[in-house]
Amino acid sequence: MHKTDLTIPDVLGGCETAAAWECRRADILENLVQTEYGKRPDLPYEVSWSERLRASIDELNAVHIHTELTVRTELGAYTFPVAVFLPKRDRKVPAAVLICSQSKSIQPMQLPSVMAGKRPQELAAMAKQAVSNFRTVLENPARSASAMFGTKPVLLDLDSDYDNGHWPVRAMMKRGFGMVGFYAADAEPDDAARYPSGLAKIFGTEKERSPHEWGVLAVWAFAASCVRQYVCSLEEVDEKQIAVIGHSRCGKAALLCGASDTGFAAVMPNGSGCCGAALSRGKSGESIASIQAFFPHWFAPSFRQYAGREGELPFDQHFLLAAVAPRLLHVGSGSEDFWADPRSEHLGAQLASRVWTLYGEDGLPVQMPEADTAQVCGHVGYHLRRGPHKLDTYDWICLQEHMNRVREGTAEK
Ligand code: GCU
Repeated sequence: MHKTDLTIPDVLGGCETAAAWECRRADILENLVQTEYGKRPDLPYEVSWSERLRASIDELNAVHIHTELTVRTELGAYTFPVAVFLPKRDRKVPAAVLICSQSKSIQPMQLPSVMAGKRPQELAAMAKQAVSNFRTVLENPARSASAMFGTKPVLLDLDSDYDNGHWPVRAMMKRGFGMVGFYAADAEPDDAARYPSGLAKIFGTEKERSPHEWGVLAVWAFAASCVRQYVCSLEEVDEKQIAVIGHSRCGKAALLCGASDTGFAAVMPNGSGCCGAALSRGKSGESIASIQAFFPHWFAPSFRQYAGREGELPFDQHFLLAAVAPRLLHVGSGSEDFWADPRSEHLGAQLASRVWTLYGEDGLPVQMPEADTAQVCGHVGYHLRRGPHKLDTYDWICLQEHMNRVREGTAEK
């Protein structure tokens, strides 16, 4: 339950017009990215791609493309694969880029290497110890450890799985919605001990990072922006209707990506929780201390100073959500996802939605919706899926329907 006696920084900061907000937005992003996720080293780069396969899939009435995307800097080149499914239509289609947190084969994506093979009780003790190093208390160590590490890796082949809720190709092809996906771990492995070894390496990032240098979430966000450049080149896709979506750790990256890259028309952080859509102040479940105890490589080194000191942050996560305005923001939560904390995710979206009022919209209601219901107010939406921490077909449909309503001009303000 979200605590109520909190001082939450005001996202509008006195702005009364959209023009004033747009200046403030640039300052907010600069400051927030530097402090929390870290910045990409300032090196020129080029993105190129090569389609390795293009095939018609009759049962889906769609085209499947497998592409290799290459990013090049003066320090080298790095290539990762991208899977694409485009419904056959006689008009350009909207599409989403998924930063995929699943993998094709079992990889140490879920567990930092020091924890591999440990029993749940040992993990609980480690979680308690790590968090107490930050002098904060974990509410329920056993439950927290299982939320952090207990979920079994779900295997997903982006090129051949059509009916996985994380990547529901068949359902979305029927809805005329293009799907583009890449494995986050292919862009940069999710392992503190190996960081940097993918894209970050060709930008000159070293093991010892400078205080404001990018962490893995920012690398994944950047990878999704590079993928967007490729998607814009596809003549089947409406380049003004491209969304970025991700779940959990990749929901945090999707939010960062969509907030920074205005080429994305829509953003859906799903189950993104701590350092995603959830307000850090007053949050239950995961905290800034616990997330950095286990995933320090996700963030800028400078962010450690706020572990256990949420109240001292000059911003909160609604600032990042608001940076999406006036484009489409849709936040998704699972009703049983105590670790991500749906109430704090809704509060983040609701407070951020005040910025859309500068563009003539009403903003989200203070009340959370019932489970399996979406709230859509103009360009801002929130839905609460009944169930646990996952990305499911229902979440995708909520995003697609929200984009549809905005395109057709039928979303209430
Ligand atoms: C851990 C982590 C979360 C993250 C999640 C995931 O539970 O604590 O912050 O969102 O992994 O990516 O599934």
